Amino acid sequence: MLRLAQALDAHLRAAMERAFPAAAQAAREVGQPLDPQLAPASKPEFGDFQANGALPLAKPLGQPPRAIATAIVEQLAADPAFAELCEPPQIAGPGFINLTLRPERLAAEVQERLGDTRLGVPSVAQEAQEAGGSGAALAPVIVDFSSPNIAKEMHVGHLRSTIIGDSLARVLEFRGHAVLRLNHVGDWGTQFGMLITHLKQVAPEALTTADAVDLGDLVAFYRQAKARFDEDEAFQTTSREEVVKLQGGDPVSRRAWQLLCDQSRREFQKIYDRLDIRLSERGESFYNPYLEGVVTDLDASGLLVTDDGARCVFLEGVSGKDGKPLPVIVQKSDGGFNYATTDLAAIRYRFGADPEGDGARRVIYVTDAGQANHFAGVFQVARRAGWIPDGGRLEHVPFGLVQGEDGKKLKTRAGDTVRLRDLLDEAVERAEADLRRRLAEEERTEDEAFIQLVATTVGLAAVKYADLSQNRITNYQFSFDRMLALQGNTAPYLLYAVVRIAGIARKGGDLGAGTSGAGPGALHFTEPQEWALVRELLKLDAVIAEVEEELLPNRLCTYLFELSQVFNRFYDQVPVLKADQPARASRLALCRLTADTLRLGLGLLGIPTLERM
Ligand code: ARG
Repeated sequence: MLRLAQALDAHLRAAMERAFPAAAQAAREVGQPLDPQLAPASKPEFGDFQANGALPLAKPLGQPPRAIATAIVEQLAADPAFAELCEPPQIAGPGFINLTLRPERLAAEVQERLGDTRLGVPSVAQEAQEAGGSGAALAPVIVDFSSPNIAKEMHVGHLRSTIIGDSLARVLEFRGHAVLRLNHVGDWGTQFGMLITHLKQVAPEALTTADAVDLGDLVAFYRQAKARFDEDEAFQTTSREEVVKLQGGDPVSRRAWQLLCDQSRREFQKIYDRLDIRLSERGESFYNPYLEGVVTDLDASGLLVTDDGARCVFLEGVSGKDGKPLPVIVQKSDGGFNYATTDLAAIRYRFGADPEGDGARRVIYVTDAGQANHFAGVFQVARRAGWIPDGGRLEHVPFGLVQGEDGKKLKTRAGDTVRLRDLLDEAVERAEADLRRRLAEEERTEDEAFIQLVATTVGLAAVKYADLSQNRITNYQFSFDRMLALQGNTAPYLLYAVVRIAGIARKGGDLGAGTSGAGPGALHFTEPQEWALVRELLKLDAVIAEVEEELLPNRLCTYLFELSQVFNRFYDQVPVLKADQPARASRLALCRLTADTLRLGLGLLGIPTLERM
């Protein structure tokens, strides 16, 4: 309904202009044109929208707000294009203008969406064209997500980043942005010294034979190396030397490093494949050649301070407990670089122009909220260094912790950290058990292929949806029972709504009815449940726009949940297959648009749908 809202807004502005030309002129001169303050109606009985712009005018105009509202409404009444769009406005309370769209306009919108694979959501290119833009390709948007650390466990925090980041990337891609999905893996740093030293000692053959050897469980390998590092001084010395060798490009060390990275990569990839996640790996090591440049550049712009041998930039407006400004350290006193230096180099590269850069316009980081200060710090330094072009956006998308049902950090019964593979397995197993129980109850028989497909789809969908449907900022309690429930704001509930509609088609409902060859005015709605569904369906574009801007996938989840509820109410209370024409075709069209909207929306959450379950 975004377009209709924009049209209403334009009509209201013009009406205000005609009603109060002098005030409008004065407001324009100070760069603050009169604003109708159009917003969705606070209650359905008030119509579709309300305009609150009369209220703030009371003082400057010295008139009661209701009189101002009346004058605006009179102007609206004289505008025939407005009358085509909207019922006669109502003035309510102190001077709100309530607006209800004309039913035939809403029906026409539904009609248009039935023939549109984008379901009324414009692409950025379409928008630019309509705004008379040049049609030049937009600079890319970068989503930095997942980003686990090599040789360490990919934990539930990385799973959250993976699921949220993928969904945001999908929304941006659907809107037509060029999206770079970057996996900023932790593939560099001093931990490689001990890993390589350990590798050289326990599996020297790995470094000389051509075939990659399987190092087995890398996490266990990491633990062994760390244990030796902690207790063996000679091992420590060798490890430190190994770091220097690796950084100096020693071929054997490089090969060992490569082996470790490959091994980790294979493990990560299994998770990505299962979850249908696409990512381009561009780890920390990629920015290695650019680290020196960060320091030189910061030095040249006068931001760099040497403090206790370390080179750092002191942050403005951020101070520590002692009241002194906090630094971002970019080069340690031993000359080494750190996580922040790498992120600074990454920002510089990402906003930098080709060939030494991505030329990005917006860079989005999806990590746990614990890194908020890190990002606030490097963003500030990058801005002060002048690396962010005009209009360039840097955004940290933080999320809370994953907790067990006891409210503590998620752990296995034995008290170990939960392995992602086990977590996904368990979700699928539980979905399978639920399904078998349901099939037995309903005395249905289904073949194994069906059972596996449904269990896998539902199990993984439940994990993703449970994560996405939370406001990501808050901590999130992981519960298999809750996420797999057939009722409530869950993946199974939404998937079931799609299945229900597919069932209508199987029972002989032609879901293409109302679209095929029907001209405008072919859709007829009479029941309040139909109108409620129409209005809900037409919200999709606004919801997508909001997610694109605010990067909160839970808004999309809430919308899809509400849509399913409104649909179920409609389908329970209004006959569809048993209805006579023309109601039957119109209702089937609503069913079809609901299914299309749910499929599209779930697709943007990374969740495929089923025809039966
Ligand atoms: N590897 C980091 C971690 O596991 C996340 C990296 C996020 N991205 C970034 N550009 N810093 O916590």
